[in-house]
Amino acid sequence: MTPYYLTAPIYYVNAKPHLGHAYTTIVADAMTRFALLMGRDAMFITGTDEHGDKIVKAAEKAGTSVEELTDRVSGEFRALWPELRARPARFVRTTSPEHKAVVRAFLQKIYDAGDIYFGEYGGYYCYGCERFYTEKELEKGVCPQHLTPTEYISEKNYFFRMSKYQERLKKHILDNPDFIRPARYRAEALALLEGEVLDDLCISRPKTRLSWGIDLPFDSEYVCYVWFDALLAYFTALEGPGSELFNRFWPQAEHLVAKDILKPHAVFWPTMLMAAGLPFYRHLNVHGYWLSRSTKMSKSIGNVVSPLETALQYGLDAFRYFLLREMQFGSDADFSEEALIARFNADLANDLGNLFSRVLSMTEKFCSGQVPAPGPDRDMEREVKGLAQDSLVNFQNFFGRVQFSLALEKLWELVRALNKYVDKAAPWALARAGDKETLGTVLYTLLECMRKIALHLWPVMPDKSVQMLTQLGCDCTVFAHEDAAAIRGILPAESEGFGTLDTGRKVAGVSNLFPRIDVKSAVGPCA
Ligand code: MSP
Repeated sequence: MTPYYLTAPIYYVNAKPHLGHAYTTIVADAMTRFALLMGRDAMFITGTDEHGDKIVKAAEKAGTSVEELTDRVSGEFRALWPELRARPARFVRTTSPEHKAVVRAFLQKIYDAGDIYFGEYGGYYCYGCERFYTEKELEKGVCPQHLTPTEYISEKNYFFRMSKYQERLKKHILDNPDFIRPARYRAEALALLEGEVLDDLCISRPKTRLSWGIDLPFDSEYVCYVWFDALLAYFTALEGPGSELFNRFWPQAEHLVAKDILKPHAVFWPTMLMAAGLPFYRHLNVHGYWLSRSTKMSKSIGNVVSPLETALQYGLDAFRYFLLREMQFGSDADFSEEALIARFNADLANDLGNLFSRVLSMTEKFCSGQVPAPGPDRDMEREVKGLAQDSLVNFQNFFGRVQFSLALEKLWELVRALNKYVDKAAPWALARAGDKETLGTVLYTLLECMRKIALHLWPVMPDKSVQMLTQLGCDCTVFAHEDAAAIRGILPAESEGFGTLDTGRKVAGVSNLFPRIDVKSAVGPCA
């Protein structure tokens, strides 16, 4: 049983969670559920990033102590994830004693190895990014990310010899085409490593300027730079290097982030791993931004969408489906209620919901609500089954390669083909003609394909998936209890054979999974 360890970012506690954070965490959850279905011992983690200037400034602005702010906002993040059906195995707070111990041990290790030195540095500091920029990197004198003025700061600090590992990292990225994916971000990472020598990384802040951080183990006048501290949360969740958990899961690690934090994950982190003599992660999966009115969602712009309110209004699973279907992983996508309603009505109400409602009501009407026994397949059934196989294999392949939208599109080819098959096979005509055997073949083929669709949708729509399976008369105890051992590895075989659905089982007569949203009456929280 191969382990699977996925990390979502640990989020800053200077603002409430919004749709952007919810997207990454929901994707992490869906990827983990998928890995479990595919047979992996899967978990994902997240947490909160609580040190640094940004947090101190946010507390000052809110008129509270930094401890009060971090406790409160960290609590809000932690409480939100289960509401969105995302269940991180661990939630790391960077202010926790466990995390501090991991960071200090790591710093000491690379300090002892000679990869940290003391020096003087001057640069343009952006408080938003928590990093220094060189004059060349500024855009018209301001921070290229935040478009806000920077502050020139010159001081003595500790530096990590990042440049020492530049060539090895470049080679690793070149030799492993899907180390960073999709390809455009691999190219961006390579561009950072090509040409000029990397600056060494300033990893400390003097306490005279900032005391809200983790003390360096070798100099108590300094605290650790927040990014160096934050990345190590991925180790804290595994109880630190050397632990049993770490040895088992770290070699299978994957990260999930948006493009804003590509550099720390593609450059800082792998060089830190090399310095500590630890293996690289397997993949860095990078997605684009959710935009609102064509601008990146951000609290300061005031265009944020509340994930919980939207989920409550349209249904959590429909919301999760929309997020995974609408965004091409890697590219930006626009969030609007109109787009959500359009997807809901087209894909969920018309295609999927309609399929369930038609087939179940016909089973009720023509077979007393019981799964009928199938007769021999005709060309029509062979064609549908061939298409089902292709669609499910494609779904599994694309989903595994983080192409969620394409995976769902492939699955919907099957949903639509089944609706057409209903029209073509016309069960009502077979019932009228008294052809029970063919009627059984048609309804069985449909119900069995619907069961497969429902199972494949579990990572994306966990509740609706169970509802669909229950309507099809399947025993869902393992899903209701989220029994990982029983769920693990059931998907690969589903794209191969047919006939797992028991005949004679009672199915629901009425389905009503996704009632159509009337556009005129939908006035949403984020309109
Ligand atoms: N604390 C750092 C991460 C440290 S990880 C070791 C951080 N935190 S953050 O709160 O700013 O979160 C950034 C992440 O939130 C992005 O990488 C992305 O996962 C998610 N998103 C925030 N806004 C987003 C959008 N508008 N769209 C999509 N995802 C976004 O950076």
